[in-house]
Amino acid sequence: MKIIIVGTGYVGLVTGTCLAEIGTEVICVDVDQKKIDNLKKGILPIYEPGLEQLVENNYNKGRLSFSTDFEASVKGASVIFIAVGTPPGEDGSADLKYVLQVADTVGTYIEDYAIVVTKSTVPVGTAKKVKAAIAAALDKRGVDLPFDVASNPEFLKEGAAVDDFLKPDRIVVGVESERAKETLTKLYQPFVLNGHPIYFMDIPSAEMTKYAANAMLATKISFMNDIANLCELVGADVNEVRKGIGSDPRIGTRFIYPGIGYGGSCFPKDVKALFHTADDYKYNMRILKAVDEVNDDQKFVLFKKIEKHFNGDLKGKTFGMWGLSFKPNTDDMREAPSLILIDELLKAGATVLAYDPIAMEEAKHFADKRVIFVKDAIDAVKGAEALLLVTEWPEFRLPDWNKIKSVMHGRVIFDGRNIYQAKTIAAEGFTYYGIGSQPKTAE
Ligand code: UDX
Repeated sequence: MKIIIVGTGYVGLVTGTCLAEIGTEVICVDVDQKKIDNLKKGILPIYEPGLEQLVENNYNKGRLSFSTDFEASVKGASVIFIAVGTPPGEDGSADLKYVLQVADTVGTYIEDYAIVVTKSTVPVGTAKKVKAAIAAALDKRGVDLPFDVASNPEFLKEGAAVDDFLKPDRIVVGVESERAKETLTKLYQPFVLNGHPIYFMDIPSAEMTKYAANAMLATKISFMNDIANLCELVGADVNEVRKGIGSDPRIGTRFIYPGIGYGGSCFPKDVKALFHTADDYKYNMRILKAVDEVNDDQKFVLFKKIEKHFNGDLKGKTFGMWGLSFKPNTDDMREAPSLILIDELLKAGATVLAYDPIAMEEAKHFADKRVIFVKDAIDAVKGAEALLLVTEWPEFRLPDWNKIKSVMHGRVIFDGRNIYQAKTIAAEGFTYYGIGSQPKTAE
């Protein structure tokens, strides 16, 4: 079975590499010549644990190859995955330009039956458009070839994507024909030897499943952020409340951690895209709109605490920022809450010293040029008035407080992810601010 993956971004590269890992012949195609050249040299466009090794192994074994020649690659392919970007348009709805360009190229060059699978997160109804674009291109050629479209959303978490692909909780596939179902069953069977299900369903339901999953997870987070903010006002501690509710299995312990807002390439974009789809159908998704709004506000929560602590006077003060990426184990800076915090601090006349274990190079493309990037966590707090914990990388969990005190000027910690115990921090001589709890002054 020859597989083509179009788009070597996050999803495409992980998908292609993991499919090659089970012994399939995979060609990853991209229009970006530099990206393809780099991949051939083993240089990856993203950081993802375990991926580099897998790419190298499969490339060396000849199962995985990289090309910019889409037309040539398409010939003889049984399954073509579309994994190109769907950037949000001006109004927040997903832009399908690249997806439909791929469909057109497929229709222009296929020579035999193929299944065209959308892997990118696309609005409900996209597979239909893909099908029409392929049919139109075939028509132009005056050929009548059978083909199928399918929808196979991914549920990969950045930082754990390889594992998520190789050992998925479930695989969701929307199909229209038995033939497509049979081929995709064969392709995915090796990934569900653990007994986890492959759910075959109609295409609109598969497309909807992806949005519903992300929207539900984002809702949990925004809901908890709202609860956290209220906890602060009524004198409760969200860390206790979280434990109290999470032990009810109907609620569950995961994705109820309050913080400084969700970021990344999926939640912000998918939440917006889903309520835009609803708007198109004249249905008002009130909950999701609020989820988005709460998240936008939550990204300012840490700054507001800082401002209040220093009585609105941040001019000339230095702040040490730990963590920049939108979450640990990734260098992804898209929609990272750190960016808002940086902007607000700089606007207020403060200096920001920043450190991230992996994302610093990437952050340089995103953050204001005035940020000072430093080589380690200790350098970030040298002379700082406060330490700002922004991304909960494991290496920040148990720092050497004495060392920190020996270089830091102030004695206050703003913990945007609630990774420290207020009591412990206060005993170390720092004033502690978390999310959803009362500040605790140094002892
Ligand atoms: C998400 C989905 O989990 C994944 O299934 C989908 O395919 C893509 O989108 P990802 O964007 O990699 O994956 O990140 P995830 O681990 O889900 O975290 C998203 C954001 O939510 C992060 O900013 C994280 O810090 C935040 N978060 C998560 C919280 O604020 N609280 C939580 O309890 C969990």
